[in-house]
Amino acid sequence: MTDTRITIRRPDDWHLHLRDGAMLEGVAVHSAAHFARAIIMPNLVPPVVSGADAAAYRERIMAALPDGATFEPLMTLYLTETTDADDLAAAAASGLVTAVKLYPAGATTNSDSGVRNIDNVIPVLERMAEIGLPLCVHGEVTDPDVDIFDREAVFIETVLDPLRRRVPGLRVVMEHVTTGDGVDYALSGNDDLAATITTHHLMINRNHILAGGIRPHYYCLPVAKRERHRQALRAAAVSGEQKFFLGTDSAPHSVETKENACGCAGIFTATNTMSCLAHVFEQESALDRLEAFTSLNGPAFYRLPANEERISLVRGDSPVDYPPSIETGAGPVVVFDPGVTLYWRVEDLGERA
Ligand code: DOR
Ligand code: ZN
Repeated sequence: MTDTRITIRRPDDWHLHLRDGAMLEGVAVHSAAHFARAIIMPNLVPPVVSGADAAAYRERIMAALPDGATFEPLMTLYLTETTDADDLAAAAASGLVTAVKLYPAGATTNSDSGVRNIDNVIPVLERMAEIGLPLCVHGEVTDPDVDIFDREAVFIETVLDPLRRRVPGLRVVMEHVTTGDGVDYALSGNDDLAATITTHHLMINRNHILAGGIRPHYYCLPVAKRERHRQALRAAAVSGEQKFFLGTDSAPHSVETKENACGCAGIFTATNTMSCLAHVFEQESALDRLEAFTSLNGPAFYRLPANEERISLVRGDSPVDYPPSIETGAGPVVVFDPGVTLYWRVEDLGERA
């Protein structure tokens, strides 16, 4: 069989955790290999809360990239109940900051400084609506009485929808939607509402985590849901609909902190995301819509130009050979195992010469 090749605009990752220090040094190269830009999550310890923090973090990211890498980190600020609206507006006006991240306090990794009472951030959100600065939302309630598999649906009904009515014109990205409810709500909104979908939520459901043994490397937040939700996410991703685009939520944790009595949430997909996505889109007979999902819809929402560079994905006869884990100065990080054999690889730029 001859190789099948598709060429698309270079993709962007609209939701990425790069961490800091030794982990940043170890993982940055992997996102920069395929992606031109990424929205960088601010949930460091301590979090990235001010323009000055974002500028310093951006410098550390640039320093961690290999020579010659072309990768633009799009910085975000971590919204707290004491965020300074003027500082935020100045950081946006200078082009330093592309979005602001809302973590409900306690919802996920390093979210302790997040928002407890939405009332306290309304003035900041109104300012963001005024200047058109998008709010990236981790959409889960943290109420211990709400079942973890229902937290996204309950968040939409009790927090997100009321919030969008209260601050009309606020541009919102529902980050990593994991349910049919999330997809339906995104579709019900106007152009100010969009949603990212991760690679792993297109490939796993909750059985992967829990059936036949507990598999910590499939644990992330929001947790993967039942199969019908995965099907709804796949339909949304391959639809070509502008509201849906890739945010990998690639979230490295060392093996030690994942394989633990209280393992961290997060799946590392930076190295094999494009191979996985080509597999999914091929399965769905939608390879012609892969580019919309990875390279066109995100820039359209963020009002940025699509990348001019192209990458090619090639489907060969033999399985793609990629390491099951990567080494970092913060320990080894396990790469997402999609549970299927992958045949699509990103062609090296020199490969066709
Ligand atoms: O699984 C997750 N990991 N979900 C998040 O929201 C945060 C992330 C992380 O920072 O590890
Ligand atoms: Zn995330």
